[in-house]
Amino acid sequence: MSDHTIETLSGEDRRFPPSAAFAAQANVHADVYDEPFEAFWERNGRERVTWFEPFTELYRWELPYAQWYLGGKLNVAYNCVDRHVEAGRGDRVAYHWEGEPAGEARTITYAELQRNVVRMANALKEIGVGKGTAVAIYMGMVPELAVAMLACTRLGAPHTVVFGGFSADSLSDRMNNMGCEVLVTQDEAWRRGKPVPLKTVADEAMGAAPGVRATLVVRRTGNPVPMTEGRDRWYHELEVSDDPASCPCEPMDSEELLFLMYTSGTTASPKGIAHTTAGYLVGVATTHSLIFDLKPETDVYWCAADIGWITGHSYIVYGPLCNGATSVMYEGTPDYPNHERWWEIIERYGVTILYTAPTAIRAHMKWGHEHAEAHDLSSLRLLGSVGEPINPEAWMWYHRHIGGERCPIVDTWWQTETGMVLITPLPGVTTTKPGSATRPFPGIEAAILNEEGERVEQGGGYLVLEKPWPAMTRGIYGDDARFRETYWSRFPGHYFAGDGARIDADGDFWLLGRVDDVMNVSGHRLSTIEVESVLVDHPKVAEAAVCGRADATTGQAIVAYVTLKGNEGPSVEMLEELRNHVAQKIGAIAKPANIVFTPELPKTRSGKIMRRLLRDVAENRSLGDTTALADPSVVSELASRAAEAPTDD
Ligand code: PRX
Repeated sequence: MSDHTIETLSGEDRRFPPSAAFAAQANVHADVYDEPFEAFWERNGRERVTWFEPFTELYRWELPYAQWYLGGKLNVAYNCVDRHVEAGRGDRVAYHWEGEPAGEARTITYAELQRNVVRMANALKEIGVGKGTAVAIYMGMVPELAVAMLACTRLGAPHTVVFGGFSADSLSDRMNNMGCEVLVTQDEAWRRGKPVPLKTVADEAMGAAPGVRATLVVRRTGNPVPMTEGRDRWYHELEVSDDPASCPCEPMDSEELLFLMYTSGTTASPKGIAHTTAGYLVGVATTHSLIFDLKPETDVYWCAADIGWITGHSYIVYGPLCNGATSVMYEGTPDYPNHERWWEIIERYGVTILYTAPTAIRAHMKWGHEHAEAHDLSSLRLLGSVGEPINPEAWMWYHRHIGGERCPIVDTWWQTETGMVLITPLPGVTTTKPGSATRPFPGIEAAILNEEGERVEQGGGYLVLEKPWPAMTRGIYGDDARFRETYWSRFPGHYFAGDGARIDADGDFWLLGRVDDVMNVSGHRLSTIEVESVLVDHPKVAEAAVCGRADATTGQAIVAYVTLKGNEGPSVEMLEELRNHVAQKIGAIAKPANIVFTPELPKTRSGKIMRRLLRDVAENRSLGDTTALADPSVVSELASRAAEAPTDD
């Protein structure tokens, strides 16, 4: 966390109080903050979810593990789908799905969603999925992705969705870690006008994940793909019933595993972040309703994330569906076939609530506001941001050009581990400030601590959570020690998020980014060490160090410093080879924006790579104290090489 950031932010004195008109119709009022923690979560637990058997104990916290809504039985698919149909709301649209190729669209009502989920659940049963079978899902943004997740939850089978941009290695690692027996995938996905060969990548991944014995393949593009006899089945060829009575919703205990979502940390292996049934569902439904002021009868809500990340799980699938919302789901990229695509979608469906990431907002800023101006965006009434700190310029652009200066903006801070938003304005209640996520959600106790673990009333420090919350992770799958070490050892008794933050005189929080070796590229977390170990795994690389540097569009971009082996000389071909190597091993998102070849990395006398110096070099900062270096000349040499290195932006 640099002092520079703190100064810039404290210069921000614009204030945006809620309008009287918005406040008058809002789902919440200021008194929500007065409700005691237990009462708040007890009430939301009873009101937002339909229980097969009511819970008998609100929560139990045996540090660091919390359990919520103990004694209860429920089913997530029942809450997200069936109960809406049973209540006579089957005709309401669950998803307006828009494919990437022009003119492809599907409207899916809750009644249709129910039939689709039952059909998929029966298909999964047919290939041997039952309660407790771990299922991997590797798909693009098609309705069947949400359907597959819901089908798993209907059967009580925990899932892990792997983002369709990840490589075969990333997929097999995750499937092996979770012990997946079944994989749901699709032939290919559309991305920026090109087919992405998901099934082919999945085949390669299954080659390294022998535990996967059956595959269900959804047809999307229709192009031929290899199918392995006895293992792979086309979804559309399975003759199974879509009658809800043929596949009842499995009653699950509150604390049974719902899904794992893998995320990067400070080591090379991704962590399987575990979320369980009841607390997660209550948490995402409550936050989705209050933070987005959702009116399920009239709103058209669009979270423009990918379901392959936690944002999509919580706020495209589980939160909105539990609340009976009508959502937009879009398959492709914002710039296909041109920069107007998003604004066209908003106009076409009359989107009222838009939730996206600062990296997307900055990309649109770069492309120009004229694209938005060419469309009628007057249906919008609320905007949201997530994934990284939003810089005040981007906030103001979003406010002016997209929100027409009338929409409240909710800057929502949370993580894969938190499952739900924890720090955010409440629309109609909170006075917002560009760049501040403002205050903890009702029922959430957050604080800022200094190095010594003392509470900071005003100023910068480390963000911690002091009490459990329903959707908090139940740990890292199969790795209790790593869970305790990563989140609970820095400040005993507190959940340490890994983010720096500042609290101002009004008690508002300003997030300042990660304080560990984790980069935030386009709102997605990647660890420096994960990328380093992939680089070192290349036969021609002797040593590598990776860091993030500030990037105007993606937040951070990856810079790699690489020392080649013996007689290998740096070349443009080598650079491309290494970038592609990383893309192949992890996924395109991890491709370094630039690679600096260097005969030596800056190290301390004890041989530790000095990452702080590498970040300074990457961001052209003055190099500060280099006295700890074994060989100080390495850095000036590096700085001149970095200045010459080709970049990707
Ligand atoms: O550094 C914070 C940043 O994203 C991290 C969590 O990343 P991930 O688990 O991939 O989840 C992203 C979507 C929830 C956090 O530790 N972050 C997320 N939202 C914000 C943010 N930083 C500042 N402001 C936010 N609104």
